[in-house]
Amino acid sequence: MKLFSLCMNPSVDRTMDCPVFDVRSTNRARFVRDDIGGKGINTAVLASRFGAVSALSLLMPEDDRERLASFLRREGIAFGAVPVPGRLRINLKIRTQGGMVEINEEGAPVPPQAAEMCASAMETEASPGDFCMLTGSLPPGVPDDFYARLIPRLRHKGCFTAVDADGGALKAALDEKPDLIKPNRQEFARLTGLEPRGIAECCLFSHRLISKTGVGAVCLSLGGDGAVYVTEREALYAPALQVPVRSLHGAGDSLLSALCFSLCRGDGARAALALGCAAAAAAVSLPGTEMPGPEDAEALLPRVKIEKVDI
Ligand SMILES: Nc1ncnc2c1ncn2[C@@H]1O[C@H](COP(=O)(O)OP(=O)(O)OP(=O)(O)O)[C@@H](O)[C@H]1O
Ligand SMILES: [Mg+2]
Repeated sequence: MKLFSLCMNPSVDRTMDCPVFDVRSTNRARFVRDDIGGKGINTAVLASRFGAVSALSLLMPEDDRERLASFLRREGIAFGAVPVPGRLRINLKIRTQGGMVEINEEGAPVPPQAAEMCASAMETEASPGDFCMLTGSLPPGVPDDFYARLIPRLRHKGCFTAVDADGGALKAALDEKPDLIKPNRQEFARLTGLEPRGIAECCLFSHRLISKTGVGAVCLSLGGDGAVYVTEREALYAPALQVPVRSLHGAGDSLLSALCFSLCRGDGARAALALGCAAAAAAVSLPGTEMPGPEDAEALLPRVKIEKVDI
């Protein structure tokens, strides 16, 4: 069984320090670092580092083909790439005195047949029992129902499907009843129109969403407040660990990928949520856009507490 990621919108995450940032003058960057990123790539990297068989289906911008391919090979990820014209989009993260400024490029429009080739490649390579993670924004040219259309095809192959998306892509995916969704607070509010206050409401509203839509499980991530994991039968809460916060980048991807890694090897919901939260805490305590490895998560795991919540 493998952990199968999909990346329709890979990127270069460019982090720079600009201690004095003033929109009216020329600003000097002190430190610049580029990392290959994109949600699907992050989930694939974590899965591979944790020792899973990690597969990835992706759109690969031709101008950066060699760079991307050698990165994925180094990370031990088995990938199937559909070439698309252009270069990797850049997601700029500027650390300033007042906090982080983030500017994400949308990415170049994708030819429609390329998106379908990527979906078919995933469907063809998927085997029964695989955990398929459909994550991230969709580039221009890829319709909102892209994940929704892929879910039944993967289910037909006997795969588990997990979706981490926003807006129309997440809404459409719900109609196809994925096994798991991982919204954060804002994504959950946009999806349901509800803004739960407190952990009990997070669990209750997630449970109602399950009853209404037939989605298998909701892992609602709450940033520094932790995460809840709700199924039809139970609701669990993992408070966030107190760790030095160095970079929030990849926290959600680490939570999802480690959670799926754990479920895929047969762990129960409690153990899976615990590993997910340990990996997410490790991600926030690592600098820059670095994804955590199993030793980072294992070191924090004993500190994770899981509470049962009545629903
Ligand atoms: N400040 C923090 N301290 C400790 N843990 C944190 C902190 N922020 C986030 N986490 C952990 O990371 C998990 C995911 O964070 P969050 O809810 O911010 O995800 P997200 O918004 O999807 O992130 P991403 O930007 O990666 O998509 C949380 O459930 C929590 O376990
Ligand atoms: Mg997220």
